[in-house]
Amino acid sequence: MALIQAEGLTKIYQSGKNEYQALHGVSFQIEKGEFVAVTGRSGCGKSTLLNILGGMDRQTQGRYLFEDADVSGMKNRALANFRNKKIGFVFQSFYLAGEMDAAHNVALPMGYGGVRAAQRRRRAAELLAEVGLENKLKSKPSQMSGGEQQRVAIARAIANSPSVLLADEPTGNLDHENGKQIMELLRRLNREGLTIVMVTHDLELAGQTDRLIKMQDGRIIE
Ligand SMILES: Nc1ncnc2c1ncn2[C@@H]1O[C@H](COP(=O)(O)OP(=O)(O)OP(=O)(O)O)[C@@H](O)[C@H]1O
Ligand SMILES: [Mg+2]
Repeated sequence: MALIQAEGLTKIYQSGKNEYQALHGVSFQIEKGEFVAVTGRSGCGKSTLLNILGGMDRQTQGRYLFEDADVSGMKNRALANFRNKKIGFVFQSFYLAGEMDAAHNVALPMGYGGVRAAQRRRRAAELLAEVGLENKLKSKPSQMSGGEQQRVAIARAIANSPSVLLADEPTGNLDHENGKQIMELLRRLNREGLTIVMVTHDLELAGQTDRLIKMQDGRIIE
């Protein structure tokens, strides 16, 4: 059983009278344990695809199965539960809560998941140690470098032990050195068993994954 099965996904954005088709029938599978890179020019539909895989948006047509469950058939509440339990999401611009320190940022999704406060604190400290930030528990995002903020975001994304980590240009706002460190962290998490789908423009980073999905104008070309 594939972890992710996409069959003929199309996405049409509608704004007023205008329609724009961002995906034209995209099909692929992702197996458990894989590290897959998604590349292609700006506007080719990478984020659109990742948002559908993460249950943040819905396709217009086609079928999306996750662990054999039909995600498109889920009502909003089931979809929110799917996102919280199964999906970890990392973005180019981190999206940490600015007023919260690192430990509270990491603990946040566990709170939605119903984990008790003491347990959340303990696990947040473990997760921050795992990404090399055991000395930054009480630091706020404004007191951390970009690379450190992204490591907090990754710790937060894996807090509920998701089945897959979806990363949209996770190194896009970082310099080369910090980007390399984030990539090393992702590769380690993958070796430890985490399935990862990463959108990137950086062909050097894409080359370090198991497999490349290349997109063009809303289609997979390779
Ligand atoms: N909400 C929206 N309404 C209308 N069109 C949209 C919307 N979101 C995206 N699009 C269009 O869909 C196409 C694909 O967008 P998407 O964000 O998926 O591209 P991308 O491959 O992630 O690009 P980038 O590398 O610049 O992030 C683009 O042409 C974009 O303008
Ligand atoms: Mg994008």
